[in-house]
Amino acid sequence: MAFPENFINELTERNDIVEVVSSYVRLSKKSGSNLFGLCPFHSEKTPSFSVSPDKQIYHCFGCGKGGGVINFVMEIENLSFPEAVEFLAKRAGMPMPEETNDRESRRRARMLELNKAAARFFYEQLSTPAGQAACDYMRKRKLSPATARNFGIGFAPDTWDSLTEAMKSQGFTEQELAEAGLVRRGKSGGVYDTFRNRLMFPVIDVRGNVIGFSGRILGDGEPKYMNSPETLVFNKSRNLFALNLAKKSKCGYIILSEGNIDVASLHQAGFDSAVASLGTSLTPEQARLISRYTDQVVIAYDNDGAGIKAAQRAIGILEKLDLKVKVLRLEGAKDPDEFIKLKGPEAFRKLLEGSEDQIDYRLRAVTEKYDLSSDGDKVAFLKEATELVARLPGAVERQVYAMRVASMAGVPESVVADEAQRRRKRLLSSARKAQEREQTRVDRAPPGGGRTGRYSDPASAAAEEGVIRLLYLEPSLIDEPGLPDTEDFSQESLGRIYSAIRDRLRRGESVNTATLGEELSGEDMSLLVSLLQKPELLSRSRQSLHDYINKIKERREESSQSSDLRALANKYREKKGYEG
Ligand code: UTP
Ligand code: MN
Repeated sequence: MAFPENFINELTERNDIVEVVSSYVRLSKKSGSNLFGLCPFHSEKTPSFSVSPDKQIYHCFGCGKGGGVINFVMEIENLSFPEAVEFLAKRAGMPMPEETNDRESRRRARMLELNKAAARFFYEQLSTPAGQAACDYMRKRKLSPATARNFGIGFAPDTWDSLTEAMKSQGFTEQELAEAGLVRRGKSGGVYDTFRNRLMFPVIDVRGNVIGFSGRILGDGEPKYMNSPETLVFNKSRNLFALNLAKKSKCGYIILSEGNIDVASLHQAGFDSAVASLGTSLTPEQARLISRYTDQVVIAYDNDGAGIKAAQRAIGILEKLDLKVKVLRLEGAKDPDEFIKLKGPEAFRKLLEGSEDQIDYRLRAVTEKYDLSSDGDKVAFLKEATELVARLPGAVERQVYAMRVASMAGVPESVVADEAQRRRKRLLSSARKAQEREQTRVDRAPPGGGRTGRYSDPASAAAEEGVIRLLYLEPSLIDEPGLPDTEDFSQESLGRIYSAIRDRLRRGESVNTATLGEELSGEDMSLLVSLLQKPELLSRSRQSLHDYINKIKERREESSQSSDLRALANKYREKKGYEG
């Protein structure tokens, strides 16, 4: 049975490893922050068993055993993982997770039920006299009743307790309403509706659950939108508005816009793959969610400074996931909604077909920064645009864009092309130098905390350890492109550790010795802890990660080539009838 992550984390917080180990081993301070003692797992006369209070891990430099507090109890009490968890839960006086687990999933299910009931309530208000204000507003914004139905758009009446009373009569408590963010507590302790006199957009996840709401004011006023707070079921950074609808689209790409109104308006005009992030800039989690449904994204953000900035950030995040990105230019309108109102769906379709790819877009962003009629600006423009050209991976691409930059600045093409070539050389050589530096570092460092000889390919294994160490210490690196496959690992044990860490991080779960302990064997855990002993410079972690990855892939290629050669040689021998 999988234990809930919160429970495991609390368990390890409440069972300090130094205290737990101390009831079995006499520990004394020796060097640095670590405590040392005689290893309980092998016989020795001088202490080589260390415990780190900071990292909450133990490691024996003699026998190589190591892990977190749960592993220690498993090892010393000879217990399975769940048994060790129970042992430590008792020690800390915590109730067992079956109970907490059940309670939490019940609360979650109940909150979803409440949200659904609230969404229905809001929708029904549209056909009451009080709801006419909302219907008028939608008419004004040209949102049809069919669109209201499709999205479940509704209305929160202009009173303090309509929703509260309606939900209470259906058996929900004030406490439940408060936890779902649907009511707020007043000073006197009573509650009042969070959303009042607003057009209500339910936020629905890809499984069809109503997880929260965002409410727009009818007309002008502040704040324009109010959103549900983060709750047990609502996490803004991990969900996208209308993805529940867009995921069913057949068009092959997702349109990413900023506003709920834009999304509704796009769907109504037939662009049924539009989504919006929920009032935040696009997050890596949202990008990952998108990448589950498509490999192409068209950005249709607002046509203002903030929109352009947001688009540039989004491009970076999406491209990391190997998504193809295009950007729409909404000329003559402030946002997609207005564009469609002014110029019609056909014009928007044309825009989609002719949308710029991101190189054009970036080039235009550079162009717009400068006044090309001024000489000073022209020089600065050339510098920045040439840099952009130099970084393009393809030679043809570089040629085409050098031409374009030159004609924009009114200089001969060769000026741009030559300068781009020079810059590219410099870029390549500094990249190569960095790689060489890293290589020598990787080659020299003994893998496995000095356990060389246990690995069949020490150079690759050292890099494999590096990847593991970096992901463990800096989980955000999980979003880097080009992470290796488990099969790229030369060492099976390292591959197992790697895939356990990677899979947890991709699910958005935390990674530490306690959470990994459930999946990894004691031996793998010991290996992990020992490789974590080695220092890693985190200041240049991304670069290091890519150096490690390159090393792994390079070794992998070499070994497959040499086995190809061997196979070829064998075949040749057979043909010629040679004896092996
Ligand atoms: P917009 O102001 O572009 O909203 O904000 P919109 O939906 O396109 O509305 P119109 O076109 O002005 O009528 C974009 C998104 O940012 C979030 C909302 O999710 C909104 O849809 N937002 C905006 C907030 O969360 N709070 C705010 O006060 C404003
Ligand atoms: Mn808008």
